[in-house]
Amino acid sequence: MKVTIDITRTKESKLPSIDFSNLPFGKVLSDHMFIADYKDNMWQNPRILPLDTLDIHPANMALHYGQSIFEGMKASINKEGVPMLFRPEKHVERINASARRMCMPELPEELFIEAVKSMVWLERGWIPKDEGSALYIRPFMFATDNFIGVAPSKTFTFMILTLPVGPYYPKPVRLLADEQYVRAAKGGTGEAKAAGNYAGSLLPARIAQEKGFDQVLWLDARYRKFVQEVGTMNIFFSIDGKLITPSCDGAILKGITRMSIIEIFRDKGIEVEERPITIDELFEAYDAGLLDEVFGSGTAAVVSHVSAISYKDRIMQFDQNKFNLSLMAKKEINQLRNGTIVDTRGWVVPVDNHVMV
Ligand code: COI
Repeated sequence: MKVTIDITRTKESKLPSIDFSNLPFGKVLSDHMFIADYKDNMWQNPRILPLDTLDIHPANMALHYGQSIFEGMKASINKEGVPMLFRPEKHVERINASARRMCMPELPEELFIEAVKSMVWLERGWIPKDEGSALYIRPFMFATDNFIGVAPSKTFTFMILTLPVGPYYPKPVRLLADEQYVRAAKGGTGEAKAAGNYAGSLLPARIAQEKGFDQVLWLDARYRKFVQEVGTMNIFFSIDGKLITPSCDGAILKGITRMSIIEIFRDKGIEVEERPITIDELFEAYDAGLLDEVFGSGTAAVVSHVSAISYKDRIMQFDQNKFNLSLMAKKEINQLRNGTIVDTRGWVVPVDNHVMV
């Protein structure tokens, strides 16, 4: 499929006004946006326009029933100044898995990749150079039929925004293992990157923040014992020299950084177990002095240290000076992204002299 994207450039770039030393996550958007429409059973009219507001009918179905999914990717820049994407094909696979779950149309891989590359090439001046910073890429799709009835929409919009960002969590995070609320149950939408999953996490996250924590550590819906994820990232535990991460059981987001970290460690001969793990097992390991480090992984979070986990009336605190595996993972991912080590696995995709119409 040959994808031709029509481009209208902004008349005046906001770039000169951006303070790259202060990039709070999610607040600064680049000059352009990508849009494609799905109607008559096909994706059409792919275009890049100056960033602007959208015209939305009040009966838009995404507003009422949340038929809306998204991805998070990052572009970095290597020493030669070439923009680099990290495993973009995995993001196409995942957005299409989310689309299937939410009764939305899949995106042809060529359209997704061409749209991402075109945005990144056009906005390459927006890619921050500092370690830990990147151009965050937000592909998303939402229903556009105007109908107040519960049914799948027949029309959709796919868009991409790009944002220069600093670290999502600038300092180690404190987690509260939630006993009252659940993020997802098997058979639900937890594995999809569906907008509503994040809306449902807001109240528990706010309660956690009121209690002095940064985020919720989700437990499973049935037994309220098995650790799932943090909602903004997957989670890893280093116990007695072994890395353990909850297995993807249908309720956990299949993180692309998660799968990359697993592969990086296995390649180094470090044992990684993907299996169910209970909050009680974590406390037992902690009491025995075997729980050495806890960290989250995600596109936005990259690798973020956890400094504490609270559950019921107990709290585990982790000494950041002992963290070692997480630093190893973070370093390798950052080095792959900025091209300072050889990418033997073919994960990094350059966006080099991308031809644009
Ligand atoms: C990402 O890591 O890209 C995400 O989508 C998480 C989001 C909460 C920022």
